[in-house]
Amino acid sequence: MNDLIDLVASAKSAFAGALTPADLENAKARFLGKSGQITELMKGMVALSVEEKKALGANINAAKQAIEAALAARRQALADAEMASQLAAEALDVSLPGRTSGQGGLHPVSLTLERIEAIFGSMGFDVAQGPEIESDWFNFTALNTPQDHPARSMHDTFYVEGGSEAAPNLLRTHTSPMQIRYAVQHVKAHRAAAGIHGDALFSGDMPEIRVIAPGRTYRVDSDATHSPMFHQCEGLWVGENVSFKDLKFVFTDFCRTFFESDDLVLRFRPSFFPFTEPSAEIDIAFQSGPLSGRWLEVAGSGQVHPNVIRNMGLEPEKYIGFAFGMGPDRLTMLRYGVNDLRLFFDGDVRFLSQFQ
Ligand code: PHE
Repeated sequence: MNDLIDLVASAKSAFAGALTPADLENAKARFLGKSGQITELMKGMVALSVEEKKALGANINAAKQAIEAALAARRQALADAEMASQLAAEALDVSLPGRTSGQGGLHPVSLTLERIEAIFGSMGFDVAQGPEIESDWFNFTALNTPQDHPARSMHDTFYVEGGSEAAPNLLRTHTSPMQIRYAVQHVKAHRAAAGIHGDALFSGDMPEIRVIAPGRTYRVDSDATHSPMFHQCEGLWVGENVSFKDLKFVFTDFCRTFFESDDLVLRFRPSFFPFTEPSAEIDIAFQSGPLSGRWLEVAGSGQVHPNVIRNMGLEPEKYIGFAFGMGPDRLTMLRYGVNDLRLFFDGDVRFLSQFQ
């Protein structure tokens, strides 16, 4: 009897010492296998009497069940430990902040362009886009600025292949070529609709031309208020009775809406452009920031020169209008109180993300 108790105890300790399922199966063989100790005991009963068989058999069976139970418990314990270590190895720390791609946003100058388009859109202006590689004709000559005109020297730019030797193509120095491109298309469409052929200047009736043309422009220039690539937005309004007074009203109204300030002060300073007569630069005062009170030039403007009206295909005795070319980059500086234009084009997200 004591032997059986010892046997159960030694099986239990052998199972407890088994650290892997394979060790456990080996230990099991020693007790319950074909020539294991329990099996041997059972074989030994053959020689006993019926009475003895009964008594010992019951005890051996009890010991066998105890050993089987210990085996099952140890199997389960090893399987649980295996599962736990697997879970620990594959653990995901769901409390770690994820890696996000970050939220993008529009460039501050794009925000300004959207605003310009919305405001002029509400005044009935169309929005037109044109090429950045421009011909000498549209950039200069058609704008009353012939080859030898001294005003060309203020528009030093980047010349590219194409065009002719005398008049190479160039990166446009302003958005003013869009005045001609848009007006020519507009006039052509209305001549066709009215069935008027020939080259004579158009003096019939047509809907007014009212357009803005935003885009990139280029000059050999770089300082705190100039960048070799910058933006301009052209404006053109041509009709039968459009005056300089309308220019002042429209541009002032635009600026007050843009800056959300009814008492914004603008200065129209007499100036010269070959394609307008009379001409004016338009200045706005910084209202906040380090440059508060200083004037910043934001646009050139004027009444469209009769030669330019002719190059649009229109009769200047009948058609008259105004044009302006403003600098959206500078409007952005004024709006946010930024004092160096180049910051907009350095591509530093720490700067750019402040506008989101
Ligand atoms: N194109 C001129 C410039 O870039 C600005 C301008 C546009 C002036 C339209 C008058 C009329 O300086």
